[in-house]
Amino acid sequence: QPGKAWSGRFSEPVSDLVKRYTASVNFDQRMARQDIRGSLAHARMLARQGIIGTTDLADIERGMSQILGEIERGEFAWNLDDEDVHLNIEKRLTALVGDAGKRLHTGRSRNDQVATDIRLWLRDAIDTILALIGEFQRQLLNVAEANAATPMPGFTHLQVAQPVTFGHHLMAYYEMSRRDAERFADCRKRVNRLPLGSAALAGTSYPIDRESVAAELGFDEVCYNSLDAVSDRDFAIEFCAASALLMTHLSRLSEELILWMSPRVGFIDLADRFCTGSSIMPQKKNPDVPELVRGKTGRVNGSLIALLTLMKGQPLAYNKDNQEDKEPLFDTADTVIDTLRIYADMITGIRVKTDAMLGALSQGYATATDLADYLVKKGLPFRDAHEAVALAVRAAERHGCDLPQFSAAELKVAMAEVPGAADRLGDDVFAVLTVEGSLASRRHIGGTAPEQVRAAVARARAQLG
Ligand code: ARG
Repeated sequence: QPGKAWSGRFSEPVSDLVKRYTASVNFDQRMARQDIRGSLAHARMLARQGIIGTTDLADIERGMSQILGEIERGEFAWNLDDEDVHLNIEKRLTALVGDAGKRLHTGRSRNDQVATDIRLWLRDAIDTILALIGEFQRQLLNVAEANAATPMPGFTHLQVAQPVTFGHHLMAYYEMSRRDAERFADCRKRVNRLPLGSAALAGTSYPIDRESVAAELGFDEVCYNSLDAVSDRDFAIEFCAASALLMTHLSRLSEELILWMSPRVGFIDLADRFCTGSSIMPQKKNPDVPELVRGKTGRVNGSLIALLTLMKGQPLAYNKDNQEDKEPLFDTADTVIDTLRIYADMITGIRVKTDAMLGALSQGYATATDLADYLVKKGLPFRDAHEAVALAVRAAERHGCDLPQFSAAELKVAMAEVPGAADRLGDDVFAVLTVEGSLASRRHIGGTAPEQVRAAVARARAQLG
């Protein structure tokens, strides 16, 4: 196979099927810019160290700048015969500049080259994701602030539990996204270490200077063990794990949007541009976008498991298995980036139906805990108060009304069986039985009182800067 980078040793060519099976150029050409950047940094170091000549470096720089132009204009002829992005570019370089192109790979292997390219690519993807999380958060904060005092039922077990505000509910997702951002930023630290200089696995006998390459490429440090450097994909797994959690959060929010948009619940409406119709049922407006976010979470989870499984049986150091890391990684980044983009916009398209939220609040005895707390503050032990209010709820159920609709006298009758409960009940009880009273009373940090929701929004804005 004359012309192949590793051809001399072989007595027969690989079959077309094997060629197609082993080639990665169809998907790893996405890393072309990173590959060129890494090669240029490597070549400059080789020249500084006197390993290649300065005219070689000039030729390499000239050739690479032409290749970059060809790729950007879509003129570069990617060739399956040259296996991957690295060999495609190197071959073209040699065609353009001759011997200097053949000197580029001195002291380097595709094993440390590909590991460097992925890290450069992923670092950019993480920076994009961090910016998009910020954008999503800003939109979320606007909607939360506008609804800092909008009452809605808070649920546990999907049963009405206690009143919260819609703003408080949305701020729960802000907290999740804040942890997501922390995780991506933390993952970036371990992405940002340079494998180049490890060569195939054992390092190289040339007098290379890895620190200067790291500095030129913006890496925080070098990878300190050559065997680990070429075989480590922890950083890719960490990225997919952070992505899976982010998607899990957006999937939960999607599930809520879908549920809230169901006419059975009717808490919100989503802007038409995030919904689609039915080809048979003319009346339909379906929440396709949140449904797809929920669905795409499955493929991101799948990519995480694919990468973990890819690595678990590999002996040191590099194995060709690693070529399978790219598609799950790229797909994960693409999915997260698109999902965040669409979500930032979708959040602003939520129309809140406050009447439906209030209506649901008046059906589930949402202020029962407030009534118990009221009795406790008057001196009744909490367990007795709990029992007294349980009796009041049963009476309300029999009467088909909610707690605030009882008179004080009726409440006293309902609680009569619990000693000490009725005597402690006064007319001031109605202040705590209302939704507004319940909300306003939860005014500590992290509580649902409108003033606290506004404080949480302000705190979040300060965090975002
Ligand atoms: N395309 C390969 C990959 O993605 C590059 C490294 C190949 N190295 C080798 N010795 N076969 O991992």
